[in-house]
Amino acid sequence: MDSFGRTVDYLRISITDRCNERCLYCLPENYADWLPRGEILAYDELLAIVGATTALGFKRFRVTGGEPLIRPGVVEFIRDLVATPGVESVLLTTNGTRLPQLAQPLFDAGLRRINISLDALDPAIYRTITNGDLAPVLEGIKLVKEIGFESVKLNTVLMRGKNDGEVFRLLDFAAEHDIAIRFIELMPVSLTEMLSEKNFFPVTELFAKLQREDELEPLMESFGFGPAKYYRLKKRGATVGLIGALSDLHFCERCNKMRLTCDGKLRPCLGNHLETDLKPALRPKIDATLLSTLVCSTLVQKPAEHLFRENYQPQRVMTAIGG
Ligand code: 5AD
Ligand code: SF4
Repeated sequence: MDSFGRTVDYLRISITDRCNERCLYCLPENYADWLPRGEILAYDELLAIVGATTALGFKRFRVTGGEPLIRPGVVEFIRDLVATPGVESVLLTTNGTRLPQLAQPLFDAGLRRINISLDALDPAIYRTITNGDLAPVLEGIKLVKEIGFESVKLNTVLMRGKNDGEVFRLLDFAAEHDIAIRFIELMPVSLTEMLSEKNFFPVTELFAKLQREDELEPLMESFGFGPAKYYRLKKRGATVGLIGALSDLHFCERCNKMRLTCDGKLRPCLGNHLETDLKPALRPKIDATLLSTLVCSTLVQKPAEHLFRENYQPQRVMTAIGG
């Protein structure tokens, strides 16, 4: 429990700040300030942190990046994470580009829940947004459904004038493949010029648009572990989640997570600069007692809500913090 009575049992772990795509909302053009490899936590350091958090009741762990599937050893790491006592659920967020090769090994390692970014279905629009190829991502999505992962979700970051015209195509695709799709408002978490008023598309506006076209039935809050509000679109047969960190004024009341950056900073809130450096408890050697103390003191500092509405300026790229 944090200082505001929220049960915080969910840790997002960024395992790399690097990515093989370069989404408009995430990385500035020509970004090259990657963290030196020695700064990135080793897998055994990450597992030690996981151990310290399970002792405090953390149960769910999302592996993210950057693009987590480009880090060598990720499959073995996920296997170890799944086998860690106290870990009830392991989740992965990926851009999907490496799923054609890795979906089966990940399933065999025990992964059952996966979120895949899909910002457009038109290959040209997809490339404009991500700088990458759509084909392997679609192949990966089909593959994870075939393999039988328990939970597969799509994530679309909404941008006015970029992919707002793709919404119904994406919904039809999600319905056809029986996958929930979540639309996410742009958040000022990255250092990119995409994050302006002009490009912002509130999920409240999307909600109104969906109501005009379809019949929305609210689903139980418990559908996912995160901040999305879910609806069933009765005509289309699609399940849609809306994530409005800015337009949903109650967003932070349901917050159940902390984030670990790939260089070992524990952040109690995505929209706040507070962070605790865990490295002193990891190097030169792992000190489990200090690690627990640092995790505990970070949890009690978790703020009531984010600062996104107060001209929040991110100081780091999103990929280091964990998308
Ligand atoms: N705004 C909203 N979501 C973002 N993500 C990354 N950057 C942003 C941003 N500026 C999220 C997206 C993406 C995931 C990896 O991180 O959901 O799919
Ligand atoms: Fe939680 Fe912070 Fe995100 Fe709000 S902004 S939902 S408190 S992590």
